[in-house]
Amino acid sequence: MSLRTVFESQPDRRYIMFGGKGGLGKTTLSATSAFWLASQGKRVLLFSVDPQARLSDIFQRDIFGKGPVPIMENLWAQEVDADRRIKEYQDEIRKKILDMYGFDRVPQEIDDYISAASAEPAMEESAIFDAVVDIIVQGDYDYYIYDLVPLGHALYYLSMAKVYDEWINKITKLREDMRQYDQVAATMRREESLPEDQILGELTYIKERINASSRILTDAARTAFFFVVVPEEMIILDTKKAAALFARFDVPISGYIVNRVLPPELQQADLPPYLRNRIAMQEKYLGEIRGEFGDQVRAYVPEMERDITGLPMIERLAHRLFVDG
Ligand SMILES: Nc1ncnc2c1ncn2[C@@H]1O[C@H](COP(=O)(O)OP(=O)(O)OP(=O)(O)O)[C@@H](O)[C@H]1O
Ligand SMILES: [Mg+2]
Repeated sequence: MSLRTVFESQPDRRYIMFGGKGGLGKTTLSATSAFWLASQGKRVLLFSVDPQARLSDIFQRDIFGKGPVPIMENLWAQEVDADRRIKEYQDEIRKKILDMYGFDRVPQEIDDYISAASAEPAMEESAIFDAVVDIIVQGDYDYYIYDLVPLGHALYYLSMAKVYDEWINKITKLREDMRQYDQVAATMRREESLPEDQILGELTYIKERINASSRILTDAARTAFFFVVVPEEMIILDTKKAAALFARFDVPISGYIVNRVLPPELQQADLPPYLRNRIAMQEKYLGEIRGEFGDQVRAYVPEMERDITGLPMIERLAHRLFVDG
């Protein structure tokens, strides 16, 4: 089954992700697929939370932190500015504290605490997570293509959905149990509503959002996750390991894309030994890939003569990938 057949035969898989180690072609394949789907009349949002702003590079336009930017008919690209999200997050927390406790001003100690907590990687993750949830629960597009950061990070992100879920389940349960007692106490004191109610409401809201997004990300009916590999020994080994881990997080793997395959036209020429050697080496690893991933390979993508940047180059690659097959 080719990448095109996967898209055409499973139109309900609207959340598309390309994962893999750094620099193998995740952004390139995300943009190429987005281009092709958009040219087939689908409304596509290609988005990323990568601070490296690779979508700006590939489309040769500054789209960082600007919301969904139209690239061509039916195609929008969005790069989330994670730092700004964190600042918004801090402001939101401050506002909630003010509302909840009726302060006019957040006390200095609490403000220091918020700033310190925001420097934690967990806070950054959580702000990013929230941004992704915001994007995917909107539901205005036919396809959401999530241009992932390199593998380790993506895995952490996915595992976090599960950890968060369990954690919030526990707290929610605890809160609900406590609330019964609080309610009795409050009624006795003739108080009406409790800050705890608001906290519980907040937790439930977060939990529902995380549930919704992790359900989407792990739902084989709606999500297609592709691994990008190249014909190299270490990459094949690492991909096998990663695929096993992803399976443990219930991520439905829709196949493998083999990128940077030296074009067969080269074979005919009278080649210098260096290139002949490289081709022979690729042949060997392509054999391993066929043995290992076999009928799960969705595409062999040729090594182009230059970087894939700008729409004309993306269009050429899309043609090679989706039309020539
Ligand atoms: N088939 C190809 N032919 C030629 N150049 C390619 C090909 N695939 C990718 N490249 C180039 O390789 C570089 C890395 O590709 P890309 O940015 O898509 O990788 P990535 O997996 O998204 O990287 P990162 O992990 O940093 O996000 C880019 O300069 C891209 O243009
Ligand atoms: Mg990338």
